[in-house]
Amino acid sequence: MKKIFAATILAALTLTVQAQEDNTKRDAFIKDLMGKMTLEEKIGQLTLYTSGWDVTGPTLNENYKNELKAGKVGALFNAHTVKYNRDLQETAVKKTRLGIPLIFGYDVIHGHRTIFPIPLAESCSWDLDMIRESARLSAKEAAASGLNWTFNPMVDIARDPRWGRISEGSGEDTYLGSLIAKAKVKGYQGDDLSDPLTVAACVKHFAAYGAPQAGRDYSTVDMSERVLRETYLPPYKAAVDAGVETIMTSFNEVDGVPATGSKWLFTDILRKEWGFNGFVVTDYTAINEMVPHGIVANEKEAAELALNAGVDMDMQGGVYNQYVAELIKEGKLTEEQVNTAVRRILESKWNLGLFKDPYLYLDEKREKKILYSQELMDHALESGKRSIVLLKNENNLLPLSKEVKSIALIGPLGDNQIDLLGSWHASGNESKVVTILQGLKEKAPNAKITYVKGTGFGFDGDDSKDEFEAAIEAARNADVVILAVGENYRQNGEAASRSDITLPGVQQELVEEVMKVGKPTVALVGAGRPLDLSWIDANVPAIVNTWHLGTMHGRAVADVLFGDYNPAGKLTITFPRNVGQVPIYYNMKNTGRPFDANNKYTSKYLDVPNTPLYPFGYGLSYTTFEYSGLNISKSSLNMGDEVTISVNVKNSGSRDGEEVVQLYIRDLVGSVTRPVRELKGFEKILLKAGESRTVNFTISTDDLAFYTRNMDFKAEPGDFEVYMGGDSNASLKGTFKIAE
Ligand code: GLC
Repeated sequence: MKKIFAATILAALTLTVQAQEDNTKRDAFIKDLMGKMTLEEKIGQLTLYTSGWDVTGPTLNENYKNELKAGKVGALFNAHTVKYNRDLQETAVKKTRLGIPLIFGYDVIHGHRTIFPIPLAESCSWDLDMIRESARLSAKEAAASGLNWTFNPMVDIARDPRWGRISEGSGEDTYLGSLIAKAKVKGYQGDDLSDPLTVAACVKHFAAYGAPQAGRDYSTVDMSERVLRETYLPPYKAAVDAGVETIMTSFNEVDGVPATGSKWLFTDILRKEWGFNGFVVTDYTAINEMVPHGIVANEKEAAELALNAGVDMDMQGGVYNQYVAELIKEGKLTEEQVNTAVRRILESKWNLGLFKDPYLYLDEKREKKILYSQELMDHALESGKRSIVLLKNENNLLPLSKEVKSIALIGPLGDNQIDLLGSWHASGNESKVVTILQGLKEKAPNAKITYVKGTGFGFDGDDSKDEFEAAIEAARNADVVILAVGENYRQNGEAASRSDITLPGVQQELVEEVMKVGKPTVALVGAGRPLDLSWIDANVPAIVNTWHLGTMHGRAVADVLFGDYNPAGKLTITFPRNVGQVPIYYNMKNTGRPFDANNKYTSKYLDVPNTPLYPFGYGLSYTTFEYSGLNISKSSLNMGDEVTISVNVKNSGSRDGEEVVQLYIRDLVGSVTRPVRELKGFEKILLKAGESRTVNFTISTDDLAFYTRNMDFKAEPGDFEVYMGGDSNASLKGTFKIAE
């Protein structure tokens, strides 16, 4: 044992020494290079432009190639394939004075060419290893395509389903969102950024972009520092602690200052409190947009504010290129500030291995071998299945029999490819998508399957009712009806907020007309946000929330529908009964007048209950689970103590199944009011039919810390309740206290 321990210590020490040696080499190289650079060339390294291949914002600089040749560009994005990027890299390396290689960035959000489930969907797997694997494989395919930087993970906590980019994050919970942020950074970056099958990650959008007023994208964010620090900042910090190489500014203001100009965010918190040592890139023309924000009078002042805030790289705005040299001459900025920013960017290029070999990520043979590989396809299917959430299954209508004789598949998602890729699918290849229709045919080859689109998504006017009759006729002639309804990929994601979160277009009418036929019906709901499913919940016997699962959507859905996979997804975002309840989330405060049916003067609506349609953490299985025997190892803790909380879980059904066992606590009294529930642990377990298992969680008083009345981050003495179960309404309860 001692020998193993000694060997481990020696190995760790060797790695540390090696890392220090490499950093010394890197620092010497960069110092030498910067000594040769003109001010203009340094400012060029602070400039990121989109290529002409794809544009993900309001502007395109048609002149970027000439500016590249002039040494005024340090990075490009929205450019990929080895061939396309090699040409650009050769321009940078061979045609500029110092030959500094480019970094190539792209929005690889849930896969690159092979697309995995949208992030909100994948978060519902609660499977951190799988999520990390998705990031690793995304990086592998992206790096093989000539990329070395992804603008992900997006970790913005969101509680408002009107906001279209809720599709891009990991839901409403800070604890789970922080664990997912760490998993994605580790997956993208691996252990060595110079590995040509990994990419630099970019945690975004710092900060609190997910809390826009009215759920309208780019809108004002306004909250207390306590809520910001307690709910919204931890996932970014988790990414920083996981070693994320870069971070992106958010479009929104925070406490009256646009994030991109906030020294408090990007120097005081990010650098001084958190010790972040990578580089900061703005979002698309976010520096320029500080003029319409009204924090500066013109773009020159915006450039000054951003660089002073600690923002290193200007995405697409061109304002650093245009004004920084002049601002230095005027004494408003210093060359040392530019040197600090340039050094961070050059360090990342070194870390990526680009100075050793600028063409490291540009290998056409490797590209051909990796793109769309079976490994990627298999993972797309696995992650698809695990992201599906079964919301209702009255009388066990599901799973369907593979011997079913006839199926009517009705709805705009039924025989659809591109919309199943979901928002931010970037360069996902729609032709590779397995449709729902194809998935059904594979599973039930002898069934007569009639597909009728029925209507469109109510997008660009495609809300015709011309096919309603055909849909009703198909339902009449089928043993089972499967509805495939929801949103298209453009009805969520960036700049895609919706004030009405019901099924878009006339799909709801289509559903109601088909339900009148009276056949056993399953609703497959594919969207990038929680939809208002109140009518469907009251009238359709089986509801499967499929989200948009990417390349293997149809096969994953079919595996669940026909029972080849027992669904185990759990919602990471609350589903409201209607948009009027928003914001609604599980860890709300109790208020001084919590709802009481017997007392008029309590917190409620006249027209809808306070409870959501489906709560955070909710999801059904084809089997059932029973919780019992909650045990707490200590009834009274001193500060610093740990406590083990255990519960017995039994698979009381007839099929093997997975369950996400969830641990919630409630701090009953605090120096500030505390949420009625807080997720503090979970474990996904597989139980065979009839099998029981005891699941243990160990938490310490440190895990109960919060921002107190004086904004100290610490736990306080007092009484706590513990709840354990399969969703945030878990009722199995225990108590403990932290002694004075
Ligand atoms: C977009 C998005 C950001 C993305 C960037 C580059 O506006 O806000 O998430 O990474 O521009 O495409």
